Amino acid sequence: MLNEIGEILFNEREIDMKVRELAAALTEDYRDKNPVFVGILKGSFVFMADLVRRIETDCEVAFMSVSSYGSGVESSGRITIRKDLEMDVEGRHIVFVEDIIDSGMTLAYLMRYVANRNAATVKVCSFLDKPSRRKIKLVPDYRGYEIPDAFVVGYGLDYNEKYRNLPYVGILKPEAYLNR
Ligand code: IMP
Ligand code: MG
Repeated sequence: MLNEIGEILFNEREIDMKVRELAAALTEDYRDKNPVFVGILKGSFVFMADLVRRIETDCEVAFMSVSSYGSGVESSGRITIRKDLEMDVEGRHIVFVEDIIDSGMTLAYLMRYVANRNAATVKVCSFLDKPSRRKIKLVPDYRGYEIPDAFVVGYGLDYNEKYRNLPYVGILKPEAYLNR
């Protein structure tokens, strides 16, 4: 384990177990609907890759990129789209795939954005959820693990672009990001 990681929250086995559960539920709910899984870059890329490989019905994937975080540990609340969808979502079943929901601002914005483009349905699948930090009402339709109010990294999640490659989810020690 890296020195900057205080505690491992979910190891590879626990991650795999949860991914299979989520994929089974999605497969059931979206059978023959040809859903579009929309990953929010960059954090979701590892979860997205694991998730879709467990989906057992036809589906498509797409990605969007938004900026809200800058380099800190807290959402700025101002969201801008850096990479838009390159497809027509009208009449489609959209499932946003996220690494983590914190304030909820990013997804609330994106759900409105896609609903305005006349998607048939818009749902959210987030691997992690920090409900205690919510600034806006948003409950993920599919949720992996609920976690306490701590800054976590690994399994796609970063601090200043670092740690996305860790195969586990761990709590970053506060001294690794405080007083900078
Ligand atoms: P929200 O708009 O505040 O819900 O922010 C969601 C985004 O913030 C996530 O997609 C992550 O990129 C980032 N984020 C929130 N909490 C954490 C964390 O604990 N570690 C790493 N990134 C985080
Ligand atoms: Mg993200």
